[in-house]
Amino acid sequence: MYVLGIETSCDETGVAIYHPEKGIMADLLYSQVKMHSEYGGVVPELASRDHIRRLTPLIKGCLKKAALNSEDINGIAYTAGPGLMGALLVGATTARSLAWSWQIPAIAVHHMEGHLLAPMLENNPPEFPFVALLVSGGHTLLVRVDNIGQYSILGESLDDAAGEAFDKTAKMLGLGYPGGPKVSALAELGEPRFNFPRPMTNRPGLDFSFSGLKTFTMNTLNSTDKTSQDKADVAYAFQTATAETIAIKCRRALQQTGFKRLVIAGGVSANKQIRESLQVMVEKENALLYFPRLSYCTDNGAMIAYTGCQRLLAGQQESLEIFAKPRWPINELPRI
Ligand code: KG4
Ligand code: ZN
Repeated sequence: MYVLGIETSCDETGVAIYHPEKGIMADLLYSQVKMHSEYGGVVPELASRDHIRRLTPLIKGCLKKAALNSEDINGIAYTAGPGLMGALLVGATTARSLAWSWQIPAIAVHHMEGHLLAPMLENNPPEFPFVALLVSGGHTLLVRVDNIGQYSILGESLDDAAGEAFDKTAKMLGLGYPGGPKVSALAELGEPRFNFPRPMTNRPGLDFSFSGLKTFTMNTLNSTDKTSQDKADVAYAFQTATAETIAIKCRRALQQTGFKRLVIAGGVSANKQIRESLQVMVEKENALLYFPRLSYCTDNGAMIAYTGCQRLLAGQQESLEIFAKPRWPINELPRI
């Protein structure tokens, strides 16, 4: 079964073709980062229009790269939410229309489930059950994963998502969009000088809060002369506080569930310091850490093709209706 996967939920147009035995056959991505960076963040209308421009050539490119014809494709998976409505609708209408004309099933994929299952594309995939930390630009979720579609939310951010906190910190430091990789690069030059709080760690629970950390970062920065070393030290303190907070919550989640496997996924899981603190933590807990390769941490079509394929193989598919849902809780997904 060849499954075409389409991702258009935010500022990346991703297309891939997945086969259960052969793996990822083709995987193309067009990032809109340059277009949005001029505005300091994603402009939804520009995102939708650009997805329209990029999507069809990427689909054709993937078919060519995989040396397949449209008749070879057995199903189409597309991100139906959560995300920007206009952007989602480009993927949903394209996928649903192609599936109708090619007379094959279409399946709506939850973007965060795509992230959650991205480590399954690696050589040493995690077995179920596991704890997953999903950290992206819009979500920070700790999830108990018993199987595909069997998700219980253990904790989540009560305010900003982890990626959002990175992006806002980048803005304060005068770095561009998207902020995560830039804050991370600047933090490499920083020295341990400031001691930032680890929000919500001195009381029980698995929820996160990053907005207080943002204010603390702002106040600390304003108390300095804002030299390049000051900025690097602030970036270092922010990243260290975020990484440690995340590690403390993930340790609690492992202890609470008794699970010995932790998966991290989503854009922020590309962060080196976060990966390193989690690695140190899991070793102490006698557990194992799993994460996708860097290009599958951020948005991509491969994770959507993989996830859709699992659901299609289980016999699930959408009706002819075009389905897109900007808000879509992950624990409402059907089991397979
Ligand atoms: O998963 P993703 O590509 O898109 C969403 O679904 O939101 O995540 C994007 C987020 C952005 O906030 C970006 O700043 C952050 O992931 N990010 C990082 C790093 N790379 C991307 N944050 C910290 N360190 C990184 N290396
Ligand atoms: Zn994402």
